[in-house]
Amino acid sequence: MSPSPRTPLAVRIFGGFVVVIVTLVFGLMVKEFIWGGRTLHELTTLDPKGTFSNDIQNLVNPVFAVAMVIGIAVIGGVGFIAWHFRDKGDDAEEFPVQLHGKTSFEIGWTALPALILAVVGVFTVLTLIQLNKPAPEALKVEVYGQQWWWGFHYDMNGDGNYQGDGDITTATELVIPVGRTVELSVTSNDVIHSFWIPALNGKRDAVPGQHHPWKLQSNTIGVYRGQCTEFCGLSHANMRMIVRVVSQADYDAWVANQLKPAREPEPGSQAAAGQAIFKAQLCSSCHLINGVSNDSVNNPTTGVTHQLQSGVAPNLTHFMTRGTFIGSIQNLYDPTNPDGSAGDPNDVSRFGDPGDALTGGTIDQSRVNRPTLEAWLRNPSGLKPMSPVKDKAGLLRGMPNLGLTEAQIDQLIAYLTTLN
Ligand code: CUA
Repeated sequence: MSPSPRTPLAVRIFGGFVVVIVTLVFGLMVKEFIWGGRTLHELTTLDPKGTFSNDIQNLVNPVFAVAMVIGIAVIGGVGFIAWHFRDKGDDAEEFPVQLHGKTSFEIGWTALPALILAVVGVFTVLTLIQLNKPAPEALKVEVYGQQWWWGFHYDMNGDGNYQGDGDITTATELVIPVGRTVELSVTSNDVIHSFWIPALNGKRDAVPGQHHPWKLQSNTIGVYRGQCTEFCGLSHANMRMIVRVVSQADYDAWVANQLKPAREPEPGSQAAAGQAIFKAQLCSSCHLINGVSNDSVNNPTTGVTHQLQSGVAPNLTHFMTRGTFIGSIQNLYDPTNPDGSAGDPNDVSRFGDPGDALTGGTIDQSRVNRPTLEAWLRNPSGLKPMSPVKDKAGLLRGMPNLGLTEAQIDQLIAYLTTLN
């Protein structure tokens, strides 16, 4: 045997580097796991607020604990062996004793991981069954993804039709009562999206032509951020949504207000001029405002009434009851914090608190985020990258720039900011 050369310095430095990186990543994971829930991270799964997210957490915690023990044993073992049996340079002549298998060890390290995975598998399947159990008494809401915003159809009378008389259509923000289970039917109008409110449940894909059941429930009043988690084109990252969990009384007031037609502007006012522009310009061919742009036609064969407007843009009937707009990436209120990034991360009002307007009360005009509203109407793609060019089906991907004059923008905003 010729003496083996010592390990080159570069290899040793690289080895040390790998050990430091692995230790850092592992340490950060442990830190996030133990302390992650103490502050409100917008999209953390480690701070569950409802029954279903708790079910998931109760599965994740023990699995993570087991994985951590195994991780420490493996990384520690590799480290110990690498150090203990390193090339010390003095006994290079000596060739290590060669082992060719030890039956008891091989059975052990095959059976033990299989057993651990089987136990984890049992609890995973039990959790999945729990999460997918139908909830007959639940509030039923159809969720539809579209490039690049989320829409919600509430089946208020429980007749299985999400868009009949007495049902509610809204966008970007889902308002639900605290404690009540909400059964979602998740779908898409164009490409595949994925609906995810980490504080309340896991993800569910929104697939065109399919309706996937999913559930939400929150034990805590609050505002919870969500994000589309399936790459869906240009503004995928800007496809956000919010769940506002409110008291039963606030929810009832919100429902009563949502069921009303849009507020009519004072004749001769700026807002009335804005409404005229809304009807005359392209706005009304995509955006519905109930009572203003919802011309419908009755199909004599089926007896079903169809909306003439495409509804491929958010319904604006009660626009100012929301706290955010533009796919929930900008606040509709609080111009000092337009994108909701500033302030105490535990303060949910930074997600554009609509105040009394949420339930149809007075709109605090001094808090309206006019600069962003103006910028949006002036050049929509400047705030959210979009591709508002008609495709083969005649659909636009996003809001086009209508080339509005400054006077028209002022009038449109005067109108939109009356819609509580
Ligand atoms: Cu919708 Cu990503």
